[in-house]
Amino acid sequence: MALQLKKTVVMVGMMGAGKTAIGRAVADVLGVPFMDSDEEIVRAAQMEISEIFERDGEGFFRDREHEVISRLLEEGPCILSTGGGAFLAERNRDVVSEKGVSVWLRADLELLWSRVRHKDTRPLLRTPDPKATLTELLTARQPHYQNADLVVDSREDYSIPDMAERVVGC
Ligand code: S3P
Repeated sequence: MALQLKKTVVMVGMMGAGKTAIGRAVADVLGVPFMDSDEEIVRAAQMEISEIFERDGEGFFRDREHEVISRLLEEGPCILSTGGGAFLAERNRDVVSEKGVSVWLRADLELLWSRVRHKDTRPLLRTPDPKATLTELLTARQPHYQNADLVVDSREDYSIPDMAERVVGC
C-alpha cells in the first residue's frame, strides 16, 4: 500500500500488548519505516533494559526514553513503538500529541500475562508476585492510555496481519 503518512503513528499500551509485532506489521503494510524506542535506548546504551534499570535506575531510563521519542518524532513519519511506561509521562504525551498520532493497543490482563509470564526481560515484573504487579500496573496505567487518539483492541484470536489492518483502518 503506497500511503503518505503525515504524522508518526505512536503505538502505546502495556508490555505484552503486541506494540512491536503489530507496529512492524503496520509499517510493512504501509511501506514506511518502523522504529522502537526500547531498541534505540538499548542500542545507544549498549546494555539491555534490565541492566540499565539496575545500573542507572528507572529515572535514567525514563529520561533516555523521552529523548529518543522526541528525536524520532522529529525525524519524519514512521511507525513508532514505545515502552509500556512511556505514555504515562506528561512530557511524552505532550510531544506525541503535538507531532504524532497515538494508538493504544488495548489488551486484557490474561492476554498480557500469557505473553509476559515466561519472559524475564521486564525489570518492573521482577517482583515476588509478577501477575499481581502486572494487574496493578494495568489498573494504574489505563487512565493514561485512554488519552490516546485511537484505541485498537488486541486479542488472542486476532492474527498480527488482522491487527495491522485494524490499526491501518483507524
Ligand atoms: C516498561 C515496558 C518495557 C520497557 C521497560 C519498561 C514499562 O517495554 O520499556 O521494561 O514500564 O511497562 P515493553 O512495553 O515493550 O515491554
